[in-house]
Amino acid sequence: MKTVNVAIMGIGTVGGGTYRILTEHRDFLMKTQGIDFRVKKVLDKNLERIRSFGIPEAAAASSPDEIAADKDISLVVETMGGVEPAKTFIEKMLLAGKDVVTANKELISKHWASLEATAKKGGAGLYFEASCVGGVPIIRALQESLQANLINSIVGIINGTTNYILTKMTEEGMSYEAALAEAQQLGYAEFDPTADVEGFDASYKLSILSSLAFHTCVPYTCVYREGITKVTKTDIRMAGEMGYVIKLLAIGKRARDRIEVRVHPTFVPKSHPLAGVGGSFNAVFVNGDFVDDLMFYGRGAGANPTGSAIVSDIVYASKRVSPLYSDFDNNGKAEDGVEIATDFVGKYYISITVNDAPGVLAALSNVFAKNNVSIENLIQKGEKGRAAIFFLTHACNESDVRRAVAEIESQSGESRVENIIRVLE
Ligand code: HSE
Repeated sequence: MKTVNVAIMGIGTVGGGTYRILTEHRDFLMKTQGIDFRVKKVLDKNLERIRSFGIPEAAAASSPDEIAADKDISLVVETMGGVEPAKTFIEKMLLAGKDVVTANKELISKHWASLEATAKKGGAGLYFEASCVGGVPIIRALQESLQANLINSIVGIINGTTNYILTKMTEEGMSYEAALAEAQQLGYAEFDPTADVEGFDASYKLSILSSLAFHTCVPYTCVYREGITKVTKTDIRMAGEMGYVIKLLAIGKRARDRIEVRVHPTFVPKSHPLAGVGGSFNAVFVNGDFVDDLMFYGRGAGANPTGSAIVSDIVYASKRVSPLYSDFDNNGKAEDGVEIATDFVGKYYISITVNDAPGVLAALSNVFAKNNVSIENLIQKGEKGRAAIFFLTHACNESDVRRAVAEIESQSGESRVENIIRVLE
């Protein structure tokens, strides 16, 4: 039977989960895949962590060079996270001809082009199913199951932390701060939650998924990004009254040579399948020109789901005759002639507080009309001489909405634009 010796760099939650699957399912993988996967070396500064997973100390490598020089090791898993030193270590492994499997979305989204060039130089493969949406096999589906299609859109809830927070705000009426504190207590949110709550994590994943879906580099710097920190209990309640739930969506669309990529809080109609995706779960809704709508649902994080994706890549890489590389020119730039849009068309929720006086609503309506923003629905709530007016627009250009809002804010008076949230159609 074929034996594949593996090394794991970074024995944290995900690296440990990967080790557990490979050891607990060693016989099962031998039986079903015909390969004996053995973890020969692990690299982690923290020996205690290595011991805590029951890994023999003899397997602890002293440096990445020791792994790179080990001719028996043909595949290296990187579960360290962050850009450095992960990037330098991975480059060493690729140049030594070892396949690399990584869960590192930040690294892939920022340095995919150069890492793939290094992989080609070393004759090695670079696999990253675990980088996006944890245990959900969305990357394999895009690369191996949907080749027949022009993908029109990929719309997802691809960050579990923010989905947990928004679900708590929606279902239990919690404030953002209270829901975040609970997510931190449960270990869903980091002590510094910025990467999740400000949408960076989702923008890295969307850059990778859109590049694969649309067959061109979609640099993460081109992804419009807005987090959930400004979403209030009032917005959540008004969304409910208007027939929506608020989700942090990652939206990628391609129509001919125009690509749109954005991450932001979104009003999702209660009837849409993504509206029912609650807690820390993730889901991705894909539309292809021939296959039509597909939805992928599951756990986007955690030792076991992410470990499952890593082991899938380990098996996949070990069975390939030659490495799999991108099916587009992976040079870090969008293909010539492809425009990455900066203005969007859609419906908007706009929340404005005003002094409750005659003519105020008429003046606001006038500003919207002047800027081509047509109102579909509005709800007014008032107390003590102030009123909150919640507008839902018809589909319009975001630039028109921005102009109208700037005009409202610049007018003397007491009108204040509290929030603007895009609506999924
Ligand atoms: N922090 C991410 C999330 C998981 O909350 O979904 C890893 O990307």
